Amino acid sequence: MLILGIETSCDETAAAVVSDAAPRIRANLVLSQLAEHRPFGGVVPEIAARAHLDHLDRLIAQALDEAGVGFDALDAVAATGGPGLIGGVMVGVTEAKAIALVRRLPFIAINHLEGHALSVRLESEVAFPYLLLLVSGGHCQLLVVEGVGRYRRLGTTIDDAAGEAFDKGAKLLGLDYPGGPAVERAAQEGDAAHFPLPRPMVGRKGCDFSFSGLKTALAQRAAHCAKGGTLTPQDRADLAASLQAAISASLLDRTRNAVSLAGGAVRTLVAAGGVAANTMLRNRLVSLAREAGLAFVAPRPALCTDNGAMIAWAGIERLKLGLTDPLDFAPRPRWPLDPDAAPAIGAGVKA
Ligand code: KG4
Ligand code: ZN
Repeated sequence: MLILGIETSCDETAAAVVSDAAPRIRANLVLSQLAEHRPFGGVVPEIAARAHLDHLDRLIAQALDEAGVGFDALDAVAATGGPGLIGGVMVGVTEAKAIALVRRLPFIAINHLEGHALSVRLESEVAFPYLLLLVSGGHCQLLVVEGVGRYRRLGTTIDDAAGEAFDKGAKLLGLDYPGGPAVERAAQEGDAAHFPLPRPMVGRKGCDFSFSGLKTALAQRAAHCAKGGTLTPQDRADLAASLQAAISASLLDRTRNAVSLAGGAVRTLVAAGGVAANTMLRNRLVSLAREAGLAFVAPRPALCTDNGAMIAWAGIERLKLGLTDPLDFAPRPRWPLDPDAAPAIGAGVKA
């Protein structure tokens, strides 16, 4: 089975060719739009959609080239169908539909969150069900992954996502975009104990997340340190270390509760999404899993952040179950993995 996967839901234009036979990843190209968005300190949806349109054709041709195949070797075309910035999702979905129509191939619309959720199975043998900490720029959830298309949400964020907390925190500290890697780098030179920050939700019942208070606390600390001027490099590093420690502590605490809630139902703890690329978080999750008698698995960092291989892989998992989509599939700006989950209550709820 050979599938072309297309990802255009945010600021990465990505195309991959993935097989169910080794080596699974035949090509995995990710074109970052960082340069286009950097002047604005965040992703500008209209710029993102236009950039996808400019680059996607060429990227797909390159991915096929690298895989050494033509369109005729493909069994299906999969594209992110949501959730995400709708202009970009439309570009990817329309491209995938056009290829499917012309080449008479099945089209598969992938929930971007399912792409992250199943990404761990691309390179590791992880059996269902497993407990998943899904941490990205737009989402922060704990889920039991029962199977393809079958998710039970244990918790979600009531305001910002974990990646958003890194990105907004980085902006407050004058660090680069995207914030996660910039905070992680700066934190290496910093002392997390120097400016302690609150650890949101720690000690509370349940598995929900909240990060907006942390952002406010960081802004106040940073303003206090800068005293009307700019932060010294050491203060910036200390604050970055403290931010990373606070976010990790909160994620850990919520995940520990989820492990208890999931009970003996799962044998593996999985982390996925861009924030799962963070080394401190990964190390702490390893310890948590060990204490709980669970295995811990996360995709390698390059497969945690957005990519086409995870979309192609989710396509393979779906095609194997005969799950394809009609060509009138409508892109979805919102697309919960567990539609039956009780709505989270809070300001700016995203899930
Ligand atoms: O999964 P992803 O690439 O895109 C979304 O689906 O949102 O996640 C992007 C997020 C950004 O907020 C970015 O700052 C964060 O993941 N991120 C990290 C790291 N690498 C990316 N956060 C912490 N540490 C990292 N090393
Ligand atoms: Zn993502």
